[in-house]
Amino acid sequence: MKNVLIVGGAGYVGGAITDLIQQSNYNVRVYDALIYEDSFRKPVDFVYGDVRDHDKLSEQLKWADAVVWLAAIVGDGACQLNPELTKSINQDSVAWLADNYNGRIVFMSTCSVYGAQNKELNENSPTNPLSIYAETKLNAEKFLKHKNAIIFRLGTLFGVGDLYSRIRLDLVVNILTVRAYLEGQISVFGGDQFRPLLHVKDVARAVLMNLETDHKGIFNLARQNVRIMDLAYQVRMHFPDLIIDHTDMPFQDTRNYRVSAKKAEETFSFRSIHSVDEGIEELKYLVETKRIKDLKSPRYSNQAYLKEHYEELMIEKFKEVEAA
Ligand SMILES: NC(=O)c1ccc[n+]([C@@H]2O[C@H](COP(=O)([O-])OP(=O)(O)OC[C@H]3O[C@@H](n4cnc5c(N)ncnc54)[C@H](O)[C@@H]3O)[C@@H](O)[C@H]2O)c1
Repeated sequence: MKNVLIVGGAGYVGGAITDLIQQSNYNVRVYDALIYEDSFRKPVDFVYGDVRDHDKLSEQLKWADAVVWLAAIVGDGACQLNPELTKSINQDSVAWLADNYNGRIVFMSTCSVYGAQNKELNENSPTNPLSIYAETKLNAEKFLKHKNAIIFRLGTLFGVGDLYSRIRLDLVVNILTVRAYLEGQISVFGGDQFRPLLHVKDVARAVLMNLETDHKGIFNLARQNVRIMDLAYQVRMHFPDLIIDHTDMPFQDTRNYRVSAKKAEETFSFRSIHSVDEGIEELKYLVETKRIKDLKSPRYSNQAYLKEHYEELMIEKFKEVEAA
């Protein structure tokens, strides 16, 4: 196996995966519609394209021995902005991939498919998608059931994945760290809800480990399950003057789940190597050295950015561009 196509590779997770796979002597090509970016300047082969442009994507699939599929509208709020658009990108394009590609597929799903449940969940636990995001990801998983595909249900990611790609500041560890820096105070609503967490670079390692294995099916990937309140205290270890403002108000986001990543550990010896403290320090360094000019810019939040720009992604508009 030589050629790896990373679809959606210009994003947060894609940045880490692209670098690691490239360093590992594969031929890497990124296919991405640059939704959040003005440019893609990483020295990696690049094709500008939308996953809904089947002719263009077909050409690239002919080249690829393996496809890492990351392209999606990501996050509950971002997906809710336009459910039809979300469905066509997150779900329908994966159905098309399943019908039109027979090579190795590494697909990113999410632990959000578990919704809110009290016990520790494994890959056989019932799913309970509470959002369009989780629902479309779960449906996408089903299309890949009989393919040569490994599906990772990722926990909430954190940390810095690479030096080029847009960092996401809408993910819980990253958000809390930035707020600690900017405001010296963080508000925690409820706080008892659990999230499984994982460093973005650990995802890249899991992908690399599985490009050429024949492991198939669903694998949870997480380092640890953390209560949001405990995470706030952990952030305070890095910002000793931080004030934590706790209110019992139910958190708007009702997700609450703990997952077991034992299957990945037992099947391909996956163990995360990057800690939450490491991720907090990476973010702290970024903000303290002022490497992000405007931390409040919508660019760093999928929902805030798409709220202003989603018309650019509308299917009709996409078709017009194609016809021109
Ligand atoms: N970041 C997390 O915490 C997390 C957690 C669970 C699962 N995931 C999954 O990992 C994958 C990557 O997430 P991310 O955090 O890098 O998100 P991201 O928003 O940073 O990146 C998504 C990328 O996909 C591209 N894209 C979106 N729609 C496209 C289209 N129609 N055609 C071509 N390219 C398109 C975007 O331009 C962007 O580069 C997603 O599938 C997501 O569901 C992420």
